[in-house]
Amino acid sequence: MLVLGISASLRNKRFSYKNELIDDLKKIKNLEDLDFFVKNQIKITFSDIEKLNEKKLSFEEKYKELKKHKGNRGLSNSETALVYALWNSLQEENINIDYLSLSNIFENETEDKLNHFKKKFLNCDALLLSGPVYFGDRGSLTQRMIEFLNSDKECMLHAKKILYAGLAVGAKRNGGQETTLIFQALDFLNMGCKVIGNGHDTTAQYGGTIVAGDIGKAVKDDYGIKTALSTGKNIGEILNNIDLNKDLSEKELKVPHKCNIFILQDNKQEECTKIIKSLLNNYKNKNINFKVFEVYKEEVHKCIACDVCPISYDASQKYRCIINNKEDFFKKNHEDIVDCDSFIFAAYSGTNFINIKSNYQQFIERTRYLRRDNYLFGRKLVSSFILSEVNSNRNLHIRILTSLIRHHNILFKPILVFKNANMYINFENIKKQFIDFCNTALKVKNKTQEVEYKPVGYEISLEEHLNRKKLS
Ligand SMILES: Cc1cc2nc3c(=O)[nH]c(=O)nc-3n(C[C@H](O)[C@H](O)[C@H](O)COP(=O)(O)O)c2cc1C
Repeated sequence: MLVLGISASLRNKRFSYKNELIDDLKKIKNLEDLDFFVKNQIKITFSDIEKLNEKKLSFEEKYKELKKHKGNRGLSNSETALVYALWNSLQEENINIDYLSLSNIFENETEDKLNHFKKKFLNCDALLLSGPVYFGDRGSLTQRMIEFLNSDKECMLHAKKILYAGLAVGAKRNGGQETTLIFQALDFLNMGCKVIGNGHDTTAQYGGTIVAGDIGKAVKDDYGIKTALSTGKNIGEILNNIDLNKDLSEKELKVPHKCNIFILQDNKQEECTKIIKSLLNNYKNKNINFKVFEVYKEEVHKCIACDVCPISYDASQKYRCIINNKEDFFKKNHEDIVDCDSFIFAAYSGTNFINIKSNYQQFIERTRYLRRDNYLFGRKLVSSFILSEVNSNRNLHIRILTSLIRHHNILFKPILVFKNANMYINFENIKKQFIDFCNTALKVKNKTQEVEYKPVGYEISLEEHLNRKKLS
C-alpha cells in the first residue's frame, strides 16, 4: 500500500525527482532520529540562506538563487509536517511511502511535469497532503492540483479508490488550519476519495494542524507535530483496514453487513424518509441489512454536559448515558444503535422551519457518550444523506462531516438530493451514489483494535475514568 505525501508550499525545499527524502526517511528507525534528521535539514535550509546573505544581493536575487538549488536538501514547514506524518505511516504494516512537491509541478507547468504528477497520483493508495494556510484556506498550488485532478478522467476514476488525509500549516494558532482542512476534505470527498482525519492520540480531529510561520518553525510546535504523526499513523492503520480496490458486492458474506440510517430531520410529508425507503426497496444486495431509525419522530433528550459519560466501566452493549428517561431514543435503542458496521445521518433541509420536525442537534450532541466509550461509533464508513430544497443553504452535509470526523470515521461523499418545485432534480444520480456507498461499506474490514478514550481538557472526567478503570 503506497501513501503519497504531497507538499504544497511555495517554499518547498525538496523537489528533486530522485526523491532522496524518501530514501532518508526509510533509514530512520525511531522518533528521536527523525527529530535529529529534521532539525539538521532545517539547519541546512538556514545555512543556504546565510550563505546568500553574505553576498550583497537584493531580496529578489536571493530568492531566485535559492530556487536554483537541486531540491535535494532542507525542509520547509509544510514538508516538516509531512515528513513526520509520512514516517509514521511507514511504521504501520504493509505501508510504503512516496513524496511529491507541488511547486515543482504547478509553479511552471509543462506537459512532462503534469505527466509525472499524474503517474505518481495514479500509483498511490492514499494521499497525504500538507500545505500552508493562506487566508484561512489552501494556497494556489493545492487549488491548481485540485483543478487538474478534476479535469482528468483517469485521475477522477482513481480518486474513488484512495484515502485522503490533510495537514495544514499556518503562522498562527487558530489561523485557519481547521477551515483549510475541512474545505479540502470536501473537495476530496467530491472527487470520490474516502476522507479521514487524525488518530485518537491527539485532539485535532480534522488532520494535522501545525503552527509555523518563519522557515524552520514547524519543528518547534510539539503538539502540531504530534497531530501530524497521528494523521500519518491513522492513514496507515486505515489503509490496512479497507480494500478500496476490490469489488466485494457480488461475494456472498457469511454475516451480512449492518448499515444504520438515522433520519434526524424531516418535513411534514416525511419526504426524506420516503426517499430513503424507496432507495432501500430498490437495493437488492443481500449482503447488507439496513435499519432505519426515524429519529425525528422520537423523544431525544438534550445532552446535559455531565462530562462523566459513559457513566460506568462496562460492556459497550450496555446503555451508559446519565439520561435515564424511559422514552429517550438512545435509552430505548442503544443496542441497535451501536450494532452496525456503517451508518448514514439523513435530514431534510428546508428554506424555513415551518412543518419541519427535527431532533438533529440533540441527536448529534448525545452521541458524545458513544465517542467517550472508546469511540464506539468510530472507524466505520459514514455519510450524510440530505434532501435539500434548492436555496436552503444550510450546509447540513458539512456540519455532519465535521461532527462525524470527531468520532474518527471514514467519510464518504455526502449524498445530496436537490428538490425544486416538488421535483427531485438529481435523483437518478443519487441512486448510483447510494449503491456506491453500500458497495464501499462492504470494503471496510472493521477490524482495527479498540482504542481507549482519554478525556483531554476535563480533569474531573479523567480522574473519574481512571478510578472506574481501577475498580473494574
Ligand atoms: C498569502 C499568505 C496568506 C497567509 N494567510 C495565513 C492565514 O490565514 N493564517 C495563518 O495562520 N497563516 C497564514 N499565512 C502564513 C503561512 O501559512 C505560514 O507562513 C506557513 O508557515 C506557510 O507554510 P510553509 O512555511 O510551508 O510555506 C499566510 C501566508 C501567506 C504568504
